[in-house]
Amino acid sequence: MTTGVIVQLGCYDADPMRRVLDHPGGGLLAAAFVLAMVGQPACSSSSSSAAPEPSGDAGVEAEAAAPPAEVTFPSGFMWGSSTAGFQVEKGDSNTDWSQWVANGKIASGNSPDVGGPDALAHIDDDIADMTSSGQTAYRFSIEWARVYPTMADFMNDTPDPQGVAVYTTLLQKLQAAHIKPLVTLVHFSLPVWLSDGNPANGSQPQGWERPQTPSLFTTWCTRAAKRWGNLVDWWATINEPLPYVLGGYVQGSFPPGVALDLTRAFAVVKIEARAHAACYDAIKAADTVDADGDGKASWVSLAKHQRTFHPYDPQSSDDAAAASRLEYLWNRWFLNAVVKGDWDENLDGSYTGPGDVMGDPTLIHRADYLGINYYSDTLVSTTEGLRLPAPVNAAVYQANMPTSRPKTDFGWDIYPEGLGTVVDEAATYGLPIVITENGLADARDVNRARFLLEHLYQLGWAIQRGDPVVGYFHWALVDNFEWANGFCPHFGLFSYDRTTGARSAKGSVAAYRSVATSGKLTTAQVAAAAAYRAPQECP
Ligand code: FCB
Repeated sequence: MTTGVIVQLGCYDADPMRRVLDHPGGGLLAAAFVLAMVGQPACSSSSSSAAPEPSGDAGVEAEAAAPPAEVTFPSGFMWGSSTAGFQVEKGDSNTDWSQWVANGKIASGNSPDVGGPDALAHIDDDIADMTSSGQTAYRFSIEWARVYPTMADFMNDTPDPQGVAVYTTLLQKLQAAHIKPLVTLVHFSLPVWLSDGNPANGSQPQGWERPQTPSLFTTWCTRAAKRWGNLVDWWATINEPLPYVLGGYVQGSFPPGVALDLTRAFAVVKIEARAHAACYDAIKAADTVDADGDGKASWVSLAKHQRTFHPYDPQSSDDAAAASRLEYLWNRWFLNAVVKGDWDENLDGSYTGPGDVMGDPTLIHRADYLGINYYSDTLVSTTEGLRLPAPVNAAVYQANMPTSRPKTDFGWDIYPEGLGTVVDEAATYGLPIVITENGLADARDVNRARFLLEHLYQLGWAIQRGDPVVGYFHWALVDNFEWANGFCPHFGLFSYDRTTGARSAKGSVAAYRSVATSGKLTTAQVAAAAAYRAPQECP
């Protein structure tokens, strides 16, 4: 229903557009596209040019009980940090992302191969850093293309010996250091042999759209689980289906570089939902070894980006309705499918239309835990900010609107309460919860300690309310290549020397270590952290 012609940046307010395009995790352009896609009518105007403070989450409200003076975390809680293969490794030229970088698609000109953290060459350093900072778990992704560089390798099941060895070494060393791995099988990047190799062919089926990709992915899941199941119990099939299509099919800032093709974007989300379910089954069948002695051979889920959604104008019922609708589409559509088996074909929020199924046996119960990535809040307006031209002008939604909240270097609002809200919402699915990502871009490390303590406090409070949270992974272990934004955003607990790769702990590590090792956090500790300072935004 859409066309790439829509992405003419001159059509938009430059500043908000830049912020929205900054990162798919911003998630707000998605608002426009999903609403447009399901044929929402234009909302009537109830304009306000002031910047109202948000009120009333569109999802589950946090309980209004008084904040506890101290929160505690259960014993055995996984304290970790996260990375993704393409963002921290180097020297893998066989992914769609390597090709994307090689084709000059990163405005800064950065490449993980030049001055990147080179994690596979620094396994010992990184594990030492995890240990010294009190971490007991590590989330990373195994690059499918490093293990199977060509389609022939994959078809013949002749993996690259070095590709296999380096991940086996990493996993063995983690085990020796008593650090539990949580392994992601596809974190955005795909083998380039799943695309046609020509980035000009963005309109041709690429990656997930190729008819054979879901079954090849399932085979990848089987093989990875068979090969490493003796060392891994915690698996995430796919990272963030919605930000993935936002980057790849709406903003065009991720491969395959398709702009504002709403039909394809949601088609890919649906493909990923079914592929996740098939991968879940594959891992359950192939990983039969209980690596960590907890009595269960595998815990399988995905890493799902969740956000809070607020009406930009609290007085506007249109904004409130739009926020609530987005909350469903962004937070619940996918989880309803793979946890409850409820398939909403036309995304209208009901399960009674054509193609809808409730309790679909091919989808239901395909998660043993919920992996939640939480970063920020979304203000939703039907009248302010980003104005998308036809055919999306049926609805106008905006992210990162002016608020008095502190901001990260990415311009994202810092909104710790939202973590409690998304965890309360996730808890309604009745599964253990792992925070698989949470963090901020903060190049000077001036805000990370406070951010961490405030978010961990909210998490501890959610646990006190009864939410079954069993782990927290900070994004990221080390500064890394932030996709379309290159090296500028600094998300790491650790920095590294761009020439030697030598790691250094940032000051904020002490805050993380204190909570991870004591298992508790007081409001006094949070209050004692340095106040937020203005961000230093990337150029
Ligand atoms: C998430 C991605 C992760 C990283 C962080 C900042 O959306 O999963 O790879 O880019 O944002």
